[in-house]
Formats: sequence, C-alpha cells, structure tokens
Amino acid sequence: MKIMVIGGGGREHAIIRKLKENPLAEKIWALPGNGGIARDAECVNIGATDIPAQVAFAREHDIDFAVVAPDDPLVLGAVDALEEAGIPCFGPRANAAIIEGSKAFSKDLMKKYGIPTAAYETFTDVKQALAYVAQAPLPVVVKADGLALGKGVVIAQTRQEAEDAVRAAMEEKKFGRSGEKLVIEEFLTGPEISVLALTDGKTVAPMSSSMDHKAAWDGDKGPNTGGMGTIAPNPFYTDAVAAECMEKIFLPTIRAMEAEGRPFQGCLYFGLMLTPDGPKVIEYNCRFGDPETQVVLPLLGSDLLTLMLAVRAGKLAEQLPLRLKPGAAACVIMASEGYPLSYKKGFPITIPEDLLDRVYVAGAAIKDGVLVTSGGRVLGVTAQAPDLKTALQEAYAAVDRIRFDNAFCRRDIGHRALEVL
Ligand code: AMP
Ligand code: GLY
Repeated sequence: MKIMVIGGGGREHAIIRKLKENPLAEKIWALPGNGGIARDAECVNIGATDIPAQVAFAREHDIDFAVVAPDDPLVLGAVDALEEAGIPCFGPRANAAIIEGSKAFSKDLMKKYGIPTAAYETFTDVKQALAYVAQAPLPVVVKADGLALGKGVVIAQTRQEAEDAVRAAMEEKKFGRSGEKLVIEEFLTGPEISVLALTDGKTVAPMSSSMDHKAAWDGDKGPNTGGMGTIAPNPFYTDAVAAECMEKIFLPTIRAMEAEGRPFQGCLYFGLMLTPDGPKVIEYNCRFGDPETQVVLPLLGSDLLTLMLAVRAGKLAEQLPLRLKPGAAACVIMASEGYPLSYKKGFPITIPEDLLDRVYVAGAAIKDGVLVTSGGRVLGVTAQAPDLKTALQEAYAAVDRIRFDNAFCRRDIGHRALEVL
C-alpha cells in the first residue's frame, strides 16, 4: 500500500512511525515532512496547504491512502479534494473540520445539543463585544472564531486586557479574518485533559488520555506555545470521568455532527476541563494533537493503519475494543531558545544512535548532510515505562544526551500529574 501523510511536524513523525509497524505500509511519502522524518519516509517539497499539488502528487504516484494530519488543510478541504480525485483519506471533510475551524460553530453545536461547555456569547460587532466585556465577570476569555495558530485565545484578568483583546482581533485584525467574529466566554477552572478519539461518524473510540503543557516556561509561566510536553495517560481521567465523558460529551458530539449532516470521520480531539461541575469541553480539534500524538500512539496496542482504514470504511465498530498498552509515556519538547517569539535556527543537532527511535522530529532540516534546527519546537523526546515517574526520568535522561545550541525545554513536564498519582 502506498501512503501519503500530509504535514511536517512531530505529530506526523509519530503517525508515520506507527503506520510503518504494519508491513502493508509498503512506501510512505510525507508532504512536506522534515529533515528528521526523512529517516522514516520520503519527503516531498509540497506544502501542507498546497491542495492542488497534493492531488496531482497522489495521482502521479498511485497513492492508495492519504492521511491529512494538520488543521489548515483539513479546514480548507484537502480531504474533499483528494476523495474527489479517487484517493481514500483519513481525516474529516471540510464540513466536519469546521468543528475546529470555527469556535462559534462548535459553541453553537454544544449549546444546541446540551454538551457541557463554558457559557458564552458570539460577536461580530466591536461595539457590542466591548459593551459585553465592560460588564462580564473577570477573568473573561476572548477567543478568535477561526484558526489562529493556537494564539487566538486571551484570558483577560482585567477589563483593560479584555478590551485590548477585542480591539486587537476586531479592529487591528491581528488574526486576519479569523478574528472578525469573537467568542467571549466564561472562565473555567480545573485540570485539563486531552482525549484523542478515533471515529467513523458513528462509533467513537478514545485512545489513552493525555495532558499537554502549553505555557513556555516552568510553573506554567510565560507565553502560550503549541505545547511543550505531554504525558499519558492523564491521572485526572479516572474510569468514572471517562464514563461521564463518553455519555455526556463524546457520543453526543458524534451524534450531533451526524444530525447536522456533517459526519465526522478521523481523529477528534476533545480538549476538556475537569471543573467542579464535571467535565466540560474547552475546545475541539479536528485532528491528532501535537505533541499529544507523540505519547498517545506509542501506547496504542492496536494497529494504526488497520484502524485508519476502518474509520474510512465506516467499520470502526469491528475493531473494538481498542488495545491500549499498560504503563505510561512522556514527551519533552526541546525547543529553540526564544520560542514562541523569535529564535535563531540552523544549529546542528546531535542525537545518540540509541535514542533515535524515541525522538520525534518537529522542526529540523538537513543541510549539507547534517540535521540542523529549523523551527521553534525542534524535537519531541519520548519515553515509555511501567509508570509515569520512570517515563519522565527516562525522557529527561535522553534530553540530557541530545545537543544543539540554543536548546531549551521545560523541566517540570508531568509534575501536576505526579502529584495526584
Ligand atoms: P484553546 O485554543 O481553545 O485550546 O485555548 C487555549 C487554552 O486556553 C486552553 O488550553 C485553556 O488552558 C485555556 N482556556 C480556553 N478556554 C478557557 C476557559 N473558558 N476557561 C479557562 N481556560 C480556558
Ligand atoms: N497540543 C494542542 C494541539 O494540538 O492543538
């Protein structure tokens, strides 16, 4: 089977490694991939949002199956275009990817179908948005409606911050068209849980729960990033919480999407907060999370390619129950100093041979035959062990043996989880 994976980060590296466990995966191309993914797949210089070029490539190379991993191509309709060209895909069509592409859509969906989430209002008029934040309880959460590279959410502690966030999005157009509409919502508290679930539109199969660490620095300080590290499973996700999520959130969401004529096929990411009133949805993503995938897939005991094909065929039920491996996994992101703001790149990376299989490469390129840094998040260094404490120790021991100039990482990944174990 000839497979193409669209995307070029650590998540795609983890997906490709897992797909390769199945001998049916005869050849894998990554579009565009990166310098580290090149060890595991053939990288092709076609951007993740260049849909016409992806379709042309798939036709030329007789691709049997395409996995569309990032949010942008999914929201832009890469799956629709590839399927129309006769290429079977893993991933939602654009009319279902809107669950991530528009926060106003997802909030309205949850309201209509009684799925627990923060109370909210939607605005397209700057005066009305300003009037609302002038009297809303603080802190208040201001969210750009559309995709904003994970930067479209402001938790405003003061009226001034809330007003600035509204003006930045609606008047200064900081997020372009993504900020023309705003969702302003109630601030919730509690531990966060990510659940990545495979779904064919009818059956929903959650994989291991996980926990991301979005702030750049230790102690959850500093600017928000795409994610500085993850652990799985998430100890706050007890069997009782899992059962409640299935009944009140996962199944109702899948059924709501089907009832709206937008059946969701692919990986649906539930960003949850365990509030004093029970689990609530903070956000949906229409795809595998990054860097959650780097800990969730190593703990998946079932074959990923088989599952993805079953999702596409609408036959996920036949693959249940999913096999989840015992034990825990940890991923520590090694980033470029200065990320997520400005940082230098081009530094050579040294990874000891015995660690290569545990490193997922996010932002690196090959230059004159040498792997060099090329992004903010550079490597996801992972470990799997019988318990979380050991997994974290092993991940950090590996981090300490990997070198590149200007490297930095958080030293406290998993601390909050260890406290409750
Ligand atoms: P999002 O891009 O929607 O995932 O939001 C980014 C982060 O902002 C989330 O992971 C939460 O930590 C935080 N956040 C979003 N919405 C809320 C909310 N209503 N209450 C508290 N924190 C929130
Ligand atoms: N790690 C969060 C995300 O993938 O959006």
